[in-house]
Amino acid sequence: MADNPVITIDGPAASGKGTLAQRLSADLGFNLLDSGLLYRIVGYTASDAQLSLRDASGLEVFIRDRLRFKINQEPSREIAPGSYEVYIFKHVGVEDTVSINGRNVNLVLRSQETGVNSSIVSAVPEVRHLLIPIQRAMLTPPGLVADGRDMGTVVFPDAQLKFYLDASVGTRARRRLDQLQKPVDQSSLVKMISELEQRDKRDRTRDIAPLKIPENAQILDTTNLTIDEMFTVARTTIREQILI
Ligand code: DC
Repeated sequence: MADNPVITIDGPAASGKGTLAQRLSADLGFNLLDSGLLYRIVGYTASDAQLSLRDASGLEVFIRDRLRFKINQEPSREIAPGSYEVYIFKHVGVEDTVSINGRNVNLVLRSQETGVNSSIVSAVPEVRHLLIPIQRAMLTPPGLVADGRDMGTVVFPDAQLKFYLDASVGTRARRRLDQLQKPVDQSSLVKMISELEQRDKRDRTRDIAPLKIPENAQILDTTNLTIDEMFTVARTTIREQILI
């Protein structure tokens, strides 16, 4: 087995990546990187600071000078004026929790609106560039499960094993509504399908690090799989391919 292996999981919104990444990281005892959360934090804070989400140099200065990421650290009471102190807390088997300037922002970060804002800022090369070292620093012993859109293509191109998850857009819309605890009726489904399609299109067609299937990735269609089935298929592949 390689030292500190990386397993990447890429795919479109609501394809099951986050859930699979959480289950695998808990089972393997590996660190977990939810890279979408970093883009959501940038989208949310930049919008809160009333920046234009397409202004590359404005975003670059903002991230460099006003955004501070702290992982699993005790929050400090001191907040520099105009800055956003972002505390990300990791928990085994469940999603990260986040506080910004002492405020719990878990719900707003995972809202549809923040999802759209994050997708817009994620198309800005300067933003992607500044987030790369933060993502690579998450690789610590004994290994990492990394969830996102460019994990296997750009951030960890030498990963020991790469998954690409997908599911029909109808299934993904249903899952996202469940996740947001919204009713799954016909009109919400139609609206969510259209939102997911727009977001996927933006993520797939941007110039930099677009969402695509990494070379040599194991493709997993999760449309008709339960969470347990998806986990079992992925876990078996890991055992067979990288012997852990
Ligand atoms: O996985 P998510 O829905 O939390 O991601 C939010 C947005 O962040 C997604 O629409 C595109 C962007 N993103 C990205 O560009 N690259 C990643 N590795 C992860 C997310």
